[in-house]
Amino acid sequence: MEGETVEVAGLKFTPYLSQSQIASRVGRVAAEIRSYYAGQELPILLCMLNGAFVFAADLLRALQMEVEIEFIRYSSYQGTASCGEVSEILGLRQPLRGKRVLVVEDIVDSGLTMARLMQELERQGAKEVRIAAMFTKPEAFRGNYTVHHVGEELPNRFVVGYGLDYNGLGRGLPELYIRTE
Ligand code: HPA
Ligand code: MG
Repeated sequence: MEGETVEVAGLKFTPYLSQSQIASRVGRVAAEIRSYYAGQELPILLCMLNGAFVFAADLLRALQMEVEIEFIRYSSYQGTASCGEVSEILGLRQPLRGKRVLVVEDIVDSGLTMARLMQELERQGAKEVRIAAMFTKPEAFRGNYTVHHVGEELPNRFVVGYGLDYNGLGRGLPELYIRTE
């Protein structure tokens, strides 16, 4: 097994996917995306900060497509009791009306944040919204939408590395690590 157990913010993690395994997943996802959009209007990539910046950097270079990329952050905060929960996309510098959008996400876990984001993108008039997620956790997923391009399906356990954090740390680990049981 490549690599050793690491400790991130006091928790122990075991190697789960090596750099070369990750690179081959990214290459396969890029090939899927290229073939889906071949000969068609290309999407704008929306990289969901913070976690997706590592995957987005690798995916963009693997894609070899002339696409724009925007970096967004999804905020949801409690409004007043009368208006309830308000959510908003921060960082979007251009209108999405009539555009094709490919959301680039590090991990779709329960999928609830992504569900709200998709509603918001549709409300803004995006013509098509597709999702590329490096990781999913099918056992935790509660959404009723499709994640179109998936690097790797994970068991329902906590992971760090490759952009994913535990308490803000561990994003720079080049491999994916899973919490040691
Ligand atoms: N690790 C880090 N961040 C996450 C995870 C995880 O397993 N699931 C959703 N966000
Ligand atoms: Mg994320």
